[in-house]
Amino acid sequence: MAAATTKLLLSDLASTVKSVPSNYIRPISDRPNLTEVQISDGSIPLVDLQVKNHGIPETIINNMLTIARAFFKLPESERLKSYSDDPSKSTRLSTSFNVNTEKISNWRDYLRLHCYPLQDYMHEWPSNPPSFRYNYVRGLVLRLPEAISESKHGQHMALNYCPPCPQPDLTYGLPGHTDPNLITVLLQDDVPGLQVLRNGKWLPVSPIPNTFIVNIGDQMQVLSNDLYKSVLHRALVNCDKERISIPRFYCPSPDAVIAPAKDLIDERHLAFYKNFTYAEYYQKFWNRGLAAEGCLDLFEVSTA
Ligand code: OGA
Ligand code: NI
Repeated sequence: MAAATTKLLLSDLASTVKSVPSNYIRPISDRPNLTEVQISDGSIPLVDLQVKNHGIPETIINNMLTIARAFFKLPESERLKSYSDDPSKSTRLSTSFNVNTEKISNWRDYLRLHCYPLQDYMHEWPSNPPSFRYNYVRGLVLRLPEAISESKHGQHMALNYCPPCPQPDLTYGLPGHTDPNLITVLLQDDVPGLQVLRNGKWLPVSPIPNTFIVNIGDQMQVLSNDLYKSVLHRALVNCDKERISIPRFYCPSPDAVIAPAKDLIDERHLAFYKNFTYAEYYQKFWNRGLAAEGCLDLFEVSTA
């Protein structure tokens, strides 16, 4: 068995190993079985939405990816200044998903940022690389979810970094999961890895330059009383290339009470979910671990 590592971050471990350490290896029944992945025919309706006319200049998008790459290349001691395993911290660099609750780790490091209201959080963001804040503030100018941003809400961002992996068939960048928030707008670099589950099959979502992917999350499923389903997705790793992805998570504010929209509910259409606050949901999400089951079942109206 591979020796236990003393490294906190995968970035500092990955290049030193020739095989995947045991705590990253999935059970055989839960591996990225590539023979089961459907070949993409290149047609577009793979995800809920792909957005090209988003109004963010291509240079800003490219800068965000370049700076993310540069951040994960900073010396270990510099990166560790941002490290935390506490999911309640608004700015933190961490690894896998939640190292305090999970049994198997994911082949990923990530920097998590809160972005709204910007003035409350920007001072916490990394100051190295020096242009980090400048470029990420510019990258926030996204016209797409204006309807949501008018209300009280939250916006988080993650910079996901998956180093090359010596045995990509044994582990995941991220295992199958749904996002806990309302909607996610994802930017990926040019390295494939993202897959969504469609009609029982995993379908690759090939990167298209300068294009965002929009996924429905769990809160949208609740608000729509299951009319819209949050999409199950996962990220695979590969032997040769590192992969960067930058999702923005649009969320309700923590004290918002979430429930199926009143207009959708009457005697013939019963609510499938209880009322809860987003804070309650979010806490369960981080405690439960990233898994295909998600947390929605914990908030269903019991039919027993
Ligand atoms: C996520 C996620 C997908 C990707 O961070 O929640 O699903 O392509 N990322 O990295
Ligand atoms: Ni996700």
